[in-house]
Amino acid sequence: MTATAVAHPNIALVKYWGKADASLALPATGSVSMGLDVFPTTTSVTVGGSAEDTLTLNGSVSTDGALVRVTQFLDLVRELAGSSARASVVTENTVPTGAGLASSASGFAALATAAAAAYGLDLSARDLSRLARRGSGSATRSIPGGVAVWHAGDDEGSYAEPIPAPPMAMVVVTIDAGPKAIGSREAMRRTIATSPFYPAWVTSTTETVGDMLTACAAGDFARIGELTESNALRMHATIEGAFPPIRYLNARSVAVFDAVAELRAAGLPAYATADAGPNVVVLTTPEDRAAVATALTGFGDVIESGTGPGAYLLGSEVPATQDPEAPAPGVVRPEESAE
Ligand code: DP6
Repeated sequence: MTATAVAHPNIALVKYWGKADASLALPATGSVSMGLDVFPTTTSVTVGGSAEDTLTLNGSVSTDGALVRVTQFLDLVRELAGSSARASVVTENTVPTGAGLASSASGFAALATAAAAAYGLDLSARDLSRLARRGSGSATRSIPGGVAVWHAGDDEGSYAEPIPAPPMAMVVVTIDAGPKAIGSREAMRRTIATSPFYPAWVTSTTETVGDMLTACAAGDFARIGELTESNALRMHATIEGAFPPIRYLNARSVAVFDAVAELRAAGLPAYATADAGPNVVVLTTPEDRAAVATALTGFGDVIESGTGPGAYLLGSEVPATQDPEAPAPGVVRPEESAE
């Protein structure tokens, strides 16, 4: 059985930075994001036919940490499906991998969607989001797409769902598409263990999630923007407080934040944010995205994005010799399986 799924990255307006439970991938706080309509990941999962899981990433066979992470994720899917069959995973990622542009979000959202279908699981949107969470935290929010909140909570309660929000757009300013010096997973651990600012980050972000939900429901774009920029700078300050320190923003990133402040002073609605890397993403309105993109050309590669869709299946194929109605061997429905 082969299933193919597409998912897009998301950019957090209120960031997820820190886990309350690493084994269940439970975040220390809630977070809010906007899904992009650029940089899709397309992933096919074929169950059976090989003795080991295999991963082909952008045409190259992977045998390193990426394969280990995919295998660990497929183990969770197999447990839910009551299957021991290995799978081959073929993924095409159009976002620069590891550059702090959330390639793991679209990657694990596409993998969760394709793998759940290929292993015969029929999961609700909520359960698919919970499953994606186990691959990478930010992937939780790429299942619903659009503007979404990811709830902190226990295993049952920590999922993402869409929320009402005004029309928004983003301009991605790619300063450096190379892999980052330190991955977000390790950097999160170090921040929790050593940054004296981390407890304040958890308290303030929990409050900001509530404020952001209020601003989104009210359609108050300026408030959404100022909360977004403030929360991003608070995250980077908290990370810089780690020991040894970690600094993701470079001089060119800071120059974009300054340029965005100038655009605002000139009357354009624009607010900057950045994830675990030097690239800057600017939140703006659909009407102003072209003007913002033009103004920021020269700082790096500039790409405009609207609000993107949730993860979706391209189509499930079963070999013609197999009865499509019959469950795949060893598959049990999720409600029958012990999680
Ligand atoms: C800065 O989702 O990559 O982009 O759960 O360890 O896989 P893991 O981390 P990941 O971290 C994303 C951090 C961030 C902020 C965000 O997207 O909310």
